[in-house]
Amino acid sequence: MVRKKLNMKVLDEIIEDTIHRIQESRDQIYDIRNYAEEEYRRIESELKELRSYIMETTQYVEELRKKLSSSKQYLMKISKNHEKYTEKEMKIAYEIADQYRIQLAVVQEREQVLIQKRNGLEIQLKSLHKITEKADHINKNVSLAMDVLTENLKNLSTHIGELYETRTLGMKILYAQEEERQRIAREIHDGPAQLMSHMVLKSDLCLKLLTVDTDQCKDELLNLKYMLQKNMGDIRRIIYDLRPMILDDLGLIPALERHIQQVEEVSGFDIYFKKESPTFLLPPALSLTLFRIVQEALNNVVKHAKATQVYIRLGFLKEYIELFIKDDGIGFNVEDKKLREEDAAGFGLYAMKERVHLLQGEFEIRSQIGYGTRYYIRIPLTEEIKGE
Ligand SMILES: Nc1ncnc2c1ncn2[C@@H]1O[C@H](COP(=O)(O)OP(=O)(O)O)[C@@H](O)[C@H]1O
Ligand SMILES: [Mg+2]
Repeated sequence: MVRKKLNMKVLDEIIEDTIHRIQESRDQIYDIRNYAEEEYRRIESELKELRSYIMETTQYVEELRKKLSSSKQYLMKISKNHEKYTEKEMKIAYEIADQYRIQLAVVQEREQVLIQKRNGLEIQLKSLHKITEKADHINKNVSLAMDVLTENLKNLSTHIGELYETRTLGMKILYAQEEERQRIAREIHDGPAQLMSHMVLKSDLCLKLLTVDTDQCKDELLNLKYMLQKNMGDIRRIIYDLRPMILDDLGLIPALERHIQQVEEVSGFDIYFKKESPTFLLPPALSLTLFRIVQEALNNVVKHAKATQVYIRLGFLKEYIELFIKDDGIGFNVEDKKLREEDAAGFGLYAMKERVHLLQGEFEIRSQIGYGTRYYIRIPLTEEIKGE
């Protein structure tokens, strides 16, 4: 079954991209605003020049008007008393009045053009001012929106991430439990269950032999006894795997010591165990986790490492428990095994990590081919754990 994974990286990219686009738009609005402001200043200075030019022109119009009016008066005076003036004088007076009229018309025309231009510039100025104001307003809103968005989107992403992790962890625990049950069922089926059905057949045989061949009956009974002993051993081992009773009977440290001693006896390497005793009663889940981790790490050393020495250090500090395990074996490529985890192969390392994560702890393996393997485990001591 292909399970569709929620890719947090993609989600984060989408959020980053969205924020980036908003930022880009904000920059563009900012550019528009700056452009409008520059244009405003340019038009403002142009308008200033224009206004003084209009003022000069208006003054000039006034002057011309006065000149025209006095030249008209002079002309009227001449026409009333034409006998006193020569024809030439009259002609000149006409021409002067005419010139003023033409000049006035031209300058008035120019004044009109200038006024129209000024009105146009004033309208432009007003709309540029409005654009700047609007841009400022939009910018303020976009900035506010972006702050809210950035904060919320990031929270959302973390939230989804946490939810996803919790869900994934839940699923992993379910899978791990199911896997563990299957393994135990298989072990009971292949071991004790099968042996017992053999024993039933053997008892039948003994019953038949009892009166016929006592010697063979004795042999078969001895065989049956041997089978029973083996069966007992198997069942004890299965129980030990389920929950080492010794943990409840003796406590974590003695249980570990005994386990370590057993491993040393059957394997070819030395184990150094440096420990501190906890100052508080360990909750069963915690001692089982620590026990299982050491157990699995030692299993791996036996199975894979070809080591000569193993060093285990267990420390109970103020705020956390530290477990460090090191072997001087052949080592392995952790990255390769990580890939295998996804295929649910190499269940041991995976289960170790999950156990630690369930207790909110940190789990790290460092290994290099030819340089042995190290496990670093750190489990926070919460008040719940310490029973405070
Ligand atoms: N201490 C070790 N030294 C060398 N190789 C190791 C060690 N621990 C683990 N490995 C490697 O990592 C693999 C995964 O280990 P694990 O998850 O416990 O699965 P398994 O033990 O069932 O193979 C092992 O198959 C082995 O190749
Ligand atoms: Mg293993």
